[in-house]
Amino acid sequence: MRWAHAAPEAVPFPARVMRLEAAPDQLHQLIKLAGREADLILLDCPPSIEHPATLAALQEADVALVPVVPSPADLWSTKGVERLILQVQASRKGLKAALVPNRVLRTNLAWDVLEVMRDFSLPVLGAALSQRNAFAQSAVIGGTVYQLGRAGAEAAREVNKLVVEVLKLTGEKA
Ligand SMILES: Nc1ncnc2c1ncn2[C@@H]1O[C@H](COP(=O)(O)OP(=O)(O)OP(=O)(O)O)[C@@H](O)[C@H]1O
Ligand SMILES: [Mg+2]
Repeated sequence: MRWAHAAPEAVPFPARVMRLEAAPDQLHQLIKLAGREADLILLDCPPSIEHPATLAALQEADVALVPVVPSPADLWSTKGVERLILQVQASRKGLKAALVPNRVLRTNLAWDVLEVMRDFSLPVLGAALSQRNAFAQSAVIGGTVYQLGRAGAEAAREVNKLVVEVLKLTGEKA
């Protein structure tokens, strides 16, 4: 929400953003409605597996992406999300899921990603996002790294690769 609100009127945030205040059992209906106008719906979940919205989102989603910062503190909370996803997958075979390494330090990208993989049974997506000023800057301008010109070029390349990998997961064409 804050990210989208940071956008100037002249250059609005490049996606429609809605705050879903509805009870989790209404999520299904809301997604059906929103799906009439959108090709892709992204549900940004609260940072808690106890929050009912997180479970509700997993019950509706085609794909669950779990951003993981390769640091011990983050890996610990990821364990909890993973457990929840595996539980939902036991009864919803259609739910695909992957870990997405984020804020990876470019000096040891390969090593970080291997470390992340070791502790989890969910697959690691074949693309990662590095720690980059451009990603933080995109929040400041209320836009995307595609709007940052040369300053966002490397970040945009990473996002392009991420999109390809996510589409592979969903089985859709890029
Ligand atoms: N790859 C990255 N490179 C640089 N900065 C990043 C990167 N990913 C996230 N950040 C910055 O870290 C901050 C938190 O990121 P983000 O909102 O994605 O985290 P979150 O875990 O969803 O937080 P919250 O619990 O508030 O929802 C933001 O200011 C964002 O700009
Ligand atoms: Mg968040």
